[in-house]
Amino acid sequence: MASNDGKVLSEELIQDLNAHGPYSMAVWHSGDIRVGNEEGLSGREAYFTNLIRRTILKHFTVDQIKTFSILDIGCNDGWVLNELSDLPFARMVGIEPREKNIVKGQTVRNILQISNRVEYKLGDIESLGDESFDVVICAGVLYHVESIPVALRRIANICKAMVFIESRCISSKYITKALMNEIEMRDLVYQYKEKTCGITAQKFESAYHDGSTKSLSVVNIPTVESLVMQLDILGFQDVEIVADPKSYRRAVWKNRRALNGVCISAYPKLGQNSSVSDESIWIREYERGLEKTVLKRDFIEPLYEHYCHRKTTLALFSHSLITFMYLKSPSWLAGIFGSFLEVLHREKYELEIIKNLRYGPRDKLCLEYGKMLNSVGEHEFAMTVLKSVTTRINADWRSVYRSFHLLSAITSHVGLLDESCRYQTLCVSCNPRFPVEP
Ligand SMILES: C[S@@+](CC[C@H](N)C(=O)[O-])C[C@H]1O[C@@H](n2cnc3c(N)ncnc32)[C@H](O)[C@@H]1O
Repeated sequence: MASNDGKVLSEELIQDLNAHGPYSMAVWHSGDIRVGNEEGLSGREAYFTNLIRRTILKHFTVDQIKTFSILDIGCNDGWVLNELSDLPFARMVGIEPREKNIVKGQTVRNILQISNRVEYKLGDIESLGDESFDVVICAGVLYHVESIPVALRRIANICKAMVFIESRCISSKYITKALMNEIEMRDLVYQYKEKTCGITAQKFESAYHDGSTKSLSVVNIPTVESLVMQLDILGFQDVEIVADPKSYRRAVWKNRRALNGVCISAYPKLGQNSSVSDESIWIREYERGLEKTVLKRDFIEPLYEHYCHRKTTLALFSHSLITFMYLKSPSWLAGIFGSFLEVLHREKYELEIIKNLRYGPRDKLCLEYGKMLNSVGEHEFAMTVLKSVTTRINADWRSVYRSFHLLSAITSHVGLLDESCRYQTLCVSCNPRFPVEP
């Protein structure tokens, strides 16, 4: 066995290599010498390097790369950036929390006479400083950290042009309809985002192996969905799964291991840093949409009479029967009536109002009735109905702040400006996120 420069490995050098091992993340090559065994992940090195190289070259020109810095977090013996060091990055940095792994890389490169221009330093995700990098690679690390969201937030803070995340992951088969039902995905966000959820599995992990967590922890193994959702909420754009668990398995594991793997690339959002800034836009749009939607009198009045004055009229059965059945049915039947409602009420906000009537029907019906009365100019009556919500102890929270807002608008309309201001203050006190400004 001889290296590139014809050097033959002595027993002493081999002992030295073994004393710094294991070289289990990738194989170091020189001449016909191979150092490394990729423990059950054979083929990962070539597959992964090609994937990153292809993705970088697809998104950036060589001239751009010449101005770029690249950071590899949790670089172990530093093989990833060594493989990529032919790309003309202006600066290449690998950080790793285990000194032993940094020395491991230096040892193999010294013995095999491999040189590169990568700076290898001690460091971990949790203590990433202010220095930013154009391209950030975080491979095989996230499922060894205590908190994936914290780790990704740190990465988002320092990444300027592209992030490349590779992680072991658990199968999406555990994300079932029953699970999604159980976690009650009814938030306002789902008016604007796809109804998706992720899960993570927790396990104990010791720091015994060179490739594991940096200190004894409970670590989290995510689903692909969890990673994509985290990147999304941090404002990353064009989140692309460059290798999904199936292709990863085909190329690397070939069913030798139960665990899955995934590679994701994404661009950090320029300017405002996350979809948290979209939240106020969604809240405004949602509240205005609900406020502007007025249900027809012959539909809402019989329901209002029934729930608020215990009067059941024939009109209830002719105009609002399905809604009435939906409101009265046990939860196992509500889904069926809910699907009828979806056919009968195609307008998004109308359907949202009607479906939500199940939760606090009395106050919600008063609010809708008050809205309808206001829209036809019956301001006095509207105020009486809305006040029957705001003056009732333990009234439904959403109906209360929306009624305060409507009362503020009506009182302003009829010239009671002090009253209007008071109602606006009450509205914001009840829900500080309510968009009171028009
Ligand atoms: C499975 S190895 C992956 C090594 C290499 N990135 C690769 O893809 O082959 C995980 C590496 O992450 C390092 N690590 C563990 N916890 C870390 C943390 N909190 N921050 C950064 N690196 C960490 C470990 O020391 C180890 O070198």
